Parts: sequence; C-alpha cells; structure tokens
Amino acid sequence: MNDSRLIFEKSIPGKRAWLLPATAVPHYTASQSINAAILREIPPDFPELSEIDVVRHYTQLSSLNHGVDNGFYPLGSCTMKYNPKINEDLAAIPEFQHLHPLVPEKMAQGTLSLLAEMEDYLKAITGMDAFTLQPAAGAHGELTSLFILKAYLRSRSQEKRTKVLVPASAHGTNPASAAMAGFEIITVKCSTEGLVDLAHLKTLLNEDIAALMLTNPNTLGLFERDIYQIAAMVHQAGGLLYYDGANLNAIMGLTRPGDMGFDLMHLNLHKTFAAPHGGGGPGAGPVGVKDFLKPFLPLPVLAKNSSGYYWDYQRPHSIGKIHGFYGNLAVTLKALLYIKAMGAEGLTQVSRDAVLNANYLRVKLRQYFELPYNRPCMHEFVLSANNLKPYHVRALDIAKRLLDFGIHPPTIYFPLIVEEAMMFEPTETEGLDTLNDFIEIMHQIYQEAVDSPAELTSAPHRTPITRVDETLAARNPKLRWKPANEGGNEKSGL
Ligand SMILES: Cc1ncc(COP(=O)(O)O)c(C=O)c1O
Repeated sequence: MNDSRLIFEKSIPGKRAWLLPATAVPHYTASQSINAAILREIPPDFPELSEIDVVRHYTQLSSLNHGVDNGFYPLGSCTMKYNPKINEDLAAIPEFQHLHPLVPEKMAQGTLSLLAEMEDYLKAITGMDAFTLQPAAGAHGELTSLFILKAYLRSRSQEKRTKVLVPASAHGTNPASAAMAGFEIITVKCSTEGLVDLAHLKTLLNEDIAALMLTNPNTLGLFERDIYQIAAMVHQAGGLLYYDGANLNAIMGLTRPGDMGFDLMHLNLHKTFAAPHGGGGPGAGPVGVKDFLKPFLPLPVLAKNSSGYYWDYQRPHSIGKIHGFYGNLAVTLKALLYIKAMGAEGLTQVSRDAVLNANYLRVKLRQYFELPYNRPCMHEFVLSANNLKPYHVRALDIAKRLLDFGIHPPTIYFPLIVEEAMMFEPTETEGLDTLNDFIEIMHQIYQEAVDSPAELTSAPHRTPITRVDETLAARNPKLRWKPANEGGNEKSGL
C-alpha cells in the first residue's frame, strides 16, 4: 500500500510512540535545560503517531529518493558511479571516527601517515608536485586554487593580471569561483569541433591574463587534443594553466594533467575515487600544484621530521586557512581505500571502461537523437533533443519521462553551447545489460515522441509528484509544509 499522506496528515490525537515506564530517578527534560526565555510559549503542534507509523513513514520516504544504489544514474559531469560499501565500513571504524581533530600529532601518527600516503598517490596519478587535501568540494578546490593564483601573482607584483579565461563549455563553478576570487571572466569560444578555439584564444592572451581554467576532457566529453599548444600559448603570455579535475575519471593511468602542462588543479574525490556524493554524502576537492606554487598552499601543510608527521603552520606565503582542521577525513579515507583496492592497473581499467561505456551508448543512441559533435568521446557525451522539436518534445520532457522507468535523467541544458542538451555519463560501474536496457528505454521514449508526444510532455506519471512548474518553484519556493487552514494544499501541503 502506497500511503502518500504527509506525516502531519497521518496524525491522530492520542497516538503515542514511546514505551518507557515512568522512572523515579530524577532527570531533566530537554525543556528544563533550555533557557526559559527562548522557549516557545505554545509548544509546537507535533503530529501524534505510533512507532510503526513513524517507521513506515520514514522508510517509505527513503525509498522515494533515487540513488546509485537503486537505479541507473547517468547524470553527465557528476560521475555517479557505484561506491563500494566496504569503504564505508572501514572509514567508519572507531579509530578514525572518534579521532578528535585537536588530538596531538604524536597520537595521530597512523592517520597522518594515511593522509601523507594519499597525497603521494594523488601526486603520482596527476603529475603534480604537492597536494592539500583540505577543500571540501570541487568548487571549493577551484576557489582555493584561485586564491593560490592570486597570492602567486602578488608575490611577483603582477596584480594587474586580473582576468581569467574560461571556455564557453566550462562547468558553471569555474566562472563562479573566478568571480568569487575577484577575477574578471573572459569567455573563450569553442571551435566547430567542440574544442578550445585556438584562434580566439590567441586574440585574448595578453599581460592582463592571470590564467586559463580548463577541464580535459571538456564538458562535452571531448579530449582537448591541442593541450600542449594551449599550455605553451598561455605560458608564453605569462598566465598559468588551471585544471578542473572533475573529469579525471576518463584519463587515470592514461595521461596526467601535470604532463599536459597544467600548473595547478583540483580533484573531486567524491566522483573519481568513489566516495558517495550528491544526496549521499559530503565531498572533497584536493588541490595539487607544481613546485613553484607550493609556498602558497593553505595552512596547515602536512610535513614530516625525525619525530614523525606534524602540521606545519610556519609558511609565510600561505593563503591561510580554507577549512576547519584538515578537510573531510572520512571522504579522503574512502578515496584512499578505493585507490589502494584498485591499484594502478585497476584505475587505468576504470578509465578505459568509463570511456568504452560512454562510446557504446553514444553510438547506439545517435540513431534516435542529434549528436552535435560526432566523434569518439571520453567518459561522457552530449546529445541534443533538437530533432524532436517538430513533435514539441524537449530535453526536459525526456528527462521527466526517464523518471517513470526508475532512471535518473541525464544533465540537461548543459553545456550551454548545445541547444536542448542532454549529457550522459554512464560510468564504468554499469554492465552491458543495464546499458542495453537503457538504450531500449531511450528508443521507446523516442518512439513516444513521434507517436504520442503527450506521454512525454505530461511525464512523469509514476512519481509521487508529477510535473512541477520549475520556474515558479525556483522563484517562489515553498519550503515548509502548511496545513490547509494556513493556505497549504491539504494533500501535498504545498
Ligand atoms: C566539470 C566540473 N567541475 C567542477 C565541478 C564542481 O564540483 P563540486 O560539485 O564538488 O563542487 C563539477 C561538479 O559537478 C564538474 O562537473
């Protein structure tokens, strides 16, 4: 039985969910220990339910959430791959979980040695000379890197370099981070092949340019094959080359940003190295730099002397603190365990399989949808729903219809340079059967667009909430359930 009523609507006066007998031992209730001045006069009107009602309610709610563990999740640019459960168990052992961040270094040598080992692995995988594991997400890694860039420019009295180049296909966090760090953003056009337009880049390079932010493969899933030339051009103009490593899943063991000419970069441990993310957990966005940028790394830096590992705060050129303590330890540990379990060969195979899966889907799906850049892709690819315009079907409709099949939609309307974009990233952890089922479903959706487009434009049909007005929801969000007598919809509370 699927009871979609909200918990307030299930309330029946007098129902209770506690069983403890009254105790003679003196005790304080929560309200007794809170300053009376800040207590509500009228207690909140909590729903009244039995224990089984509550358990069922939350169990049912949890099953409404789509995750990698209950269905295919080809959300382009997000690398929603399977996260091995053993990593959760190991990162949660009490020795790690209960380690207080302020414990003296000499009592945390084991954990510190693991962090040092992680930094070494990341250096080997990326070709960078030093890492900080502190940033808490990809975007935070970008911001940290841009602060490092600023500190470097200041150290060379080059503050006049105030502009950062960002390709038109870049992830939105790139220009956002550059703007937050106080840079002006200049967009570099894409060529007809979906790559950096070298001629346009040339016209933009001058003594105002601080850096070019680039991801390779780019967000169209295409490898920037002119990367050596791009690096030479940027360096010749006195700028630095920044690598957005969110797409590293495509190139591990095959090539390294450090060898391509990048000076600094971030990684998304929560994508490439299989730590849960999205609704599944926090992230980590370590930053790697070449030797000449080491002095600017955030405080503290993990160092070692004859007594063992310690936190080095004596770094006069550092950009300072960017995170409480030393980053998200549990995420770093999960990623370290993943790297150790896979080994060098395993990681290389991950990238080969991610690329193979994406190309398999690309070739199979291009018969139903437009493929704007028709060449081998890396770990992801972008289709366009433009060919369904005559049936008044859009990328959004396809995304919504996929929900009816228990599949998470692709990323849509990104990158911005593709009209009606649908960006798919199957990842290496999906098997051939899942990919084939998906191709079948996409074929069915294409056929529905041609034969009965209303099936798509009114989708989803099987989810608890069907089509919502997303613009209205964004402009006028209702984030709190309200009873009908306060203007809420009795059924949904919205
Ligand atoms: C290419 C690219 N860069 C940067 C980011 C930002 O990473 P995060 O979401 O961890 O901040 C993403 C995230 O999806 C991405 O795909």
